[in-house]
Amino acid sequence: MLDDILNKEDLSKEEIITLLSLDNKNDQQKLFDRANELRLLYCGEEVHLRGIIEISNICEQNCVYCGLRADNKKLERYRMTPEEIIETAKNISNLGIFTIVLQSGEDCHFDSDIISYLIYQIKQKANVAITLSLGERTFEEYRTWKIAGADRYLLKHETANKLLYEKYHFKQQLSERLEHLKFLKSIGYQIGSGSMIGLPMQTIEDIADDILLCKTLDLDMAAFGPFISSPDTPYQNFNSGSAELTLKTMAVARIVLKKVHIPATTALDTIDSIGREKGLSAGANVVMPDLTPFPYRSNYQIYPNKRGSLDDPTVSTASLQKRIEALGRKISSKRGDSLKMDFEHTV
Ligand code: 5AD
Ligand code: SF4
Repeated sequence: MLDDILNKEDLSKEEIITLLSLDNKNDQQKLFDRANELRLLYCGEEVHLRGIIEISNICEQNCVYCGLRADNKKLERYRMTPEEIIETAKNISNLGIFTIVLQSGEDCHFDSDIISYLIYQIKQKANVAITLSLGERTFEEYRTWKIAGADRYLLKHETANKLLYEKYHFKQQLSERLEHLKFLKSIGYQIGSGSMIGLPMQTIEDIADDILLCKTLDLDMAAFGPFISSPDTPYQNFNSGSAELTLKTMAVARIVLKKVHIPATTALDTIDSIGREKGLSAGANVVMPDLTPFPYRSNYQIYPNKRGSLDDPTVSTASLQKRIEALGRKISSKRGDSLKMDFEHTV
């Protein structure tokens, strides 16, 4: 029966739940192997690197699970200067990485003009794709940044369960987040979203809905990382999510979503010492190394003990490249645009 499900073109919610519930190691391996096979079919052997610059750890939101939440007064806050950001972007492209991700909490200091300036300057100096990951911003800002040259926007839906979403985010609504994702797509961004696995009160059924929501949104990238309980947050005493369930989710996502980029996340690599390898062997084709310079990188504490946060960014990227090559995979020398569209950007 498992083989039948794994070979189906379209999976029902019940079948997705069956796969997510597999607890026998042999069955789980069958799931991972099938996802790996489909990853090869849809994405090939190349692994795309996306270099993240965490430009600010200041956040106006108060998501209950996150160490950057506004009410966490223990965290030392920073903002990188535009010069530092542009310099870092140049260094990343010199490492042979062709996507720069500008990531921050929801920090309105980085307004329409500053972000446009950064996009323009980075595009002048480096032949890279730019992904923005700046939280929920105004539709006018999204439009301005697209015109300035941004290529992609990453905005996780975090959970497809409307009630849990409201519990985790107070004032914010899931419907609003989905409107933002749809708008971003409608004006030409390649969009990424996804959820956390093992959040307090979340069920397997919720995770099945997360995967199906990613399908409805017709995402270009779908990211699933484990929830990691973070000190100085209201959820500090809950258990973290498991690597096993995260890997099953990624594998099922590959089977259901097909031509989509799936990252092996840093959060997975934080809770499992070979999390990236396991992720890349269970459907993932993307790795997003944190290339924020010192002294900032150790203060982007969404959750504790983030893998690599104390390491030199270029050294840890080199070791990541070795880990990927040890799996027999190649590092891509292209931008790695959406697998769904007719993008043929050369670098
Ligand atoms: N554990 C794992 N991931 C987290 N994020 C926020 N808090 C945590 C946590 N405690 C993720 C969310 C968010 C991104 C900034 O980091 O998915 O989108
Ligand atoms: Fe801010 Fe994002 Fe953390 Fe929420 S998840 S508190 S928006 S950084």
